[in-house]
Order: sequence, then C-alpha cells, then structure tokens
Amino acid sequence: MKNIKAIIFDAYGTLFDVNSAAEKCKGKIGDKWEDFANYWRTTQLEYTWLRSLMNRHKDFWKITEDSLDKSMKFFKIDNSMRNDLLDLYKVLSPFSEVKETLNKLKKKDFKLAILSNGTPSLLGNLVKNNNLENIFDDIFSIEEVGIFKPDSKVYELPVNKYNIKKDEILFLSANTWDVSGGGNYGYNSIWVNRNKNIFDNLDYQPLDEIHDLSELLEII
Ligand code: LAC
Repeated sequence: MKNIKAIIFDAYGTLFDVNSAAEKCKGKIGDKWEDFANYWRTTQLEYTWLRSLMNRHKDFWKITEDSLDKSMKFFKIDNSMRNDLLDLYKVLSPFSEVKETLNKLKKKDFKLAILSNGTPSLLGNLVKNNNLENIFDDIFSIEEVGIFKPDSKVYELPVNKYNIKKDEILFLSANTWDVSGGGNYGYNSIWVNRNKNIFDNLDYQPLDEIHDLSELLEII
C-alpha cells in the first residue's frame, strides 16, 4: 500500500446502487423486483462484453435501454414502467457509507477518481445529483477509448493521465470480473464484496476484500 498514489473507483455497483431504480418501483413490480433488477444488470453487462467482442460499440446508456427492454419482456413488466425505470437509473443512490468515506479520503494525499463504463454525462450527473462533485479529481469514462471494461485500454486511462505506474493505483470494484480485469492489467485491486459473493477464477486474487467502502479507511 505504501506506493499508492491514486485510488480509483468503479461506479455502478461500487459507489452507486444499481438495484435502487427497480427497488423504488417495487410497489408496482411486486416481489419479483430483485430478480428483475439482477437480470437487467446481468443482461446489461453481457451486452457490454458482447459488443466489445463484436466490435459493435454502443454507449452505456443505449445498452442500459436495450437490456431493460429485454428484461421487461422476460419478466412481463408493463411497458408503462419503462420511462420511470430509466429516469430512476439516471439518479441512482450511492450506498449508505459512500459519501462519508469519500469525504474522509479526500483529506488524504491521493488522487481520487472514477473509472467506469458509464458515459461522461451519465457519470457527471450521478456525481452532481449526489453532491460528490468536489470529491473526484477525474471521472474517466470508457467512451474515451470506445470499448468496455475489461479491455486494458480502459484501465490504462488513469495511468496515462497521472503518469504513474500501474501498481501505484489502488482500484476498488464490487464487480468481481472488474477486480480481476484491473488486477490482471497490473493494478492493486480490492474487492468490495457487499453481498457475500464468491470470487472469480480469472488469474487474479484481490489484494484485499472489504464488505463496504468504509473498511478501506482501516487499510490505507
Ligand atoms: C462500471 C460498471 C462495471 O461502472 O459497473 O464500469
């Protein structure tokens, strides 16, 4: 940890709760809201990987819409919910400990940044709506390189911008495959294991595993 110069966060699922959009509609969606939210998220991620492999890039917002449409059909959710769900996705809530932790980290001597699949405008608005705009030195979007995580061009963005070594970056993600992606690239990656999940077999073991972001303050 001694050489860490920048702490980089994944956005969706790590800082912001991707299930919060469907959760806010659970009155209308009913008991299946969580299965629906997980299916939407899985489909969205699969579309990012598939589009990168097919060399058919579409931005994260369009992919979020495409994956929502498939998920709504699969769960037989009335189309009248579509706009509500999409509007809520633009104002996802941060997990409860995020703001306080980031404010404490800001007092330390690290670059703080987001590195995410989201578009610059989606990420900018999420940060602004949640009053986090004074926290981050940079918000890196994969739109700069036109391919999704875990392509190494994505993980290269902060290394190039800060002119530091790969292992001078501490990367935090709740997405196991993203922890592996960053770790295989050369970052020191920490897994934010919020839901007692099992880690992947993808040639990387995280430097550490925490259960929410506040535990980071005990490590660094
Ligand atoms: C992101 C996705 C992976 O924010 O959660 O990049």
